[in-house]
Amino acid sequence: MTSNITHICPVERSGRLDSKFRRLLQNPQKILAPYIRDGMDVLEVGCGPGFFTFDIAHMVGKSGRVVAVDLQEGMLAKVREKIRRSGAGQNIVLHRCDEDRIGVSGNFDFVFLFYMVHEVVDKEAFFRELESLLKKDGQVYMAEPPLHVSKKAFEETIRIASDAGFVVVDRPKRFPDKIVVLKKA
Ligand SMILES: C[S@@+](CC[C@H](N)C(=O)[O-])C[C@H]1O[C@@H](n2cnc3c(N)ncnc32)[C@H](O)[C@@H]1O
Repeated sequence: MTSNITHICPVERSGRLDSKFRRLLQNPQKILAPYIRDGMDVLEVGCGPGFFTFDIAHMVGKSGRVVAVDLQEGMLAKVREKIRRSGAGQNIVLHRCDEDRIGVSGNFDFVFLFYMVHEVVDKEAFFRELESLLKKDGQVYMAEPPLHVSKKAFEETIRIASDAGFVVVDRPKRFPDKIVVLKKA
C-alpha cells in the first residue's frame, strides 16, 4: 500500500513540481530536445503530476506514445485531469505501478527518470526491468536532485545500473542536478 510509504514525494507537494516558475529553471523542451524525436515510444517512470509528460507527448507527436508511470494514484489523477481539461495528451497512456515492479510491456526508444530514482527502494530490480523494456539502441535519461542525492549515492546508482546491463553514454551538465544518459551495454 502506498499510504505506508514515507520516502516518496507526497501528492500534496505536487504543486511545487508543476509550476510556471519551475519551467523557467527546467524547461522540458530544452532538456528533452536532444533525445526525443517524432514517433518515439517513451517510458516516463515517476511522472508525478506530469510536468514533463505533456511536452514529451507533444514532441513524439501523433505517431508516438508516452507511457507515464507512477506509484501514486494521486499523481496519475493530476495528469488525468490535465488531459481532460486541456484536450491534449491523447497519446499519453497512464499506468500505476507497484513499488517493486514497473509492470508495463513494450520496447521503448527512450526512458525518462527525473528526480525519482532516489525514491526507488530496490534499484537493482528496477534497472533490470528497465533493461528488458529498452530497445537495443534506446537511451535512459536519469536526473537526480542536488540536495537529496550525494555524489557518492549517484555514483552508486550508476554502478547498480551498470550491473543491470547499462553503460554511460553521456553526463550532461546542468547545474545543480546530477545527470547521466545510459544505453544497453
Ligand atoms: C520527486 S517526484 C518527481 C516527479 C516528476 N518526475 C517531476 O520531475 O516532476 C518523484 C515521483 O516518483 C514517484 N515514484 C517513487 N518511487 C517510484 C517507483 N518505484 N515507481 C514509480 N514511481 C515512483 C513518486 O510517486 C513521485 O511522483
